[in-house]
Amino acid sequence: MNVLELKNITKKYGPLVAVDDVSLDVERGRVISLLGPSGCGKTTTLRIIAGFTSNDSGSLKIGGKDVSRLKPYERNVGLLFQDYALFPHMTVAQNIAYGLRYRGTQASGIPSRVDKMLSLVQLTGMERRYPRELSGGQQQRVALARALAIDPQIVLLDEPLSALDAKLRLELRIELKEILRSVGATTIVVTHDQEEALSLSDEVVIMHAGRIVQRGSPTQVYDTPADKFVAQFVGRSNWFSGLRRGGSGGVSSYVTGEGLEIRARSTPSEKRDSADLCVRPENIEIIDGAAAKVAEGADSNVLAGVVIDVAPLGADVHVVIELQGKVRLLAIRKNFGRVPELVSGQPVVALFSASDVLVF
Ligand SMILES: Nc1ncnc2c1ncn2[C@@H]1O[C@H](COP(=O)(O)OP(=O)(O)OP(=O)(O)O)[C@@H](O)[C@H]1O
Ligand SMILES: [Mg+2]
Repeated sequence: MNVLELKNITKKYGPLVAVDDVSLDVERGRVISLLGPSGCGKTTTLRIIAGFTSNDSGSLKIGGKDVSRLKPYERNVGLLFQDYALFPHMTVAQNIAYGLRYRGTQASGIPSRVDKMLSLVQLTGMERRYPRELSGGQQQRVALARALAIDPQIVLLDEPLSALDAKLRLELRIELKEILRSVGATTIVVTHDQEEALSLSDEVVIMHAGRIVQRGSPTQVYDTPADKFVAQFVGRSNWFSGLRRGGSGGVSSYVTGEGLEIRARSTPSEKRDSADLCVRPENIEIIDGAAAKVAEGADSNVLAGVVIDVAPLGADVHVVIELQGKVRLLAIRKNFGRVPELVSGQPVVALFSASDVLVF
């Protein structure tokens, strides 16, 4: 069953279309993330669902019921904003209980619900503290407990971890994922951190200029991006522009302005003569140019170049090479230890399969 149904939602601010004809169904228990560049309409979409911003057109159902005319507190929605917005003059317990009081929960039932939430976010024993007596990570957990306390039909999280430092952010990301799964919360998370979005959610919704451009599993949006924008926005990528110069055996051949030949697997939709070609850095193998000659197959790309930069980033090594024709490519290889290190100025060969080239 769909807990949330947005149909053709549009919101304008003067001439600016902040949310443009957005339709989105979310099934019970799913964790969905909204991902997109700054200003693409993520927060506005959440605010419309929560009832803090009114939409100009379209319809909105929560739990099968039209909630367009309901006030925010009449909608069964749990909210966590970027800055947590805990009440500074209230204790942890009072903060968590806030939404319960507001929604008319019987006073006798409140303490047990607060206890349950405290144990869920691992803050048992801290109920009498004030927000200023908590670390950033603890405040974040209180805000999450407050959002979940009302047993909402839908949980909206806007940049829930952005105020935390990198290490704590990663720890809490895993914890947040476990908590959401354990309570079976139907959740929409907004984040500009791609890794966070891809790791937290069952599905990713990519927005661009107020519109949804793709919805899919984290793997789908990365491996089969719907368009050039999604391919560029999600993950890292290398790009070529080329003119199609024929092909055979399911492989098309393109020649770039710099005179490089790039082979890509032919696609049924391929009609135009010119195309933008995208290769993910982890699909490019870098081989020492002095080593045995690499055999160039009909479905592979073998391009000679020179190493420009080597950045060892722990588990990965980022290698920038410059091809003949002055095009730069980023390749990411695993840090396997014993493999001889590449050095700047070294002649190399970049190798990638035609099937790893995305054509737009
Ligand atoms: N109250 C408002 N009045 C006028 N324009 C607004 C208002 N709220 C948002 N906007 C505009 O609507 C667009 C979408 O804003 P929104 O806050 O939804 O973006 P966002 O995707 O959440 O971006 P960010 O990642 O920076 O938080 C932006 O261009 C923004 O300037
Ligand atoms: Mg925002």
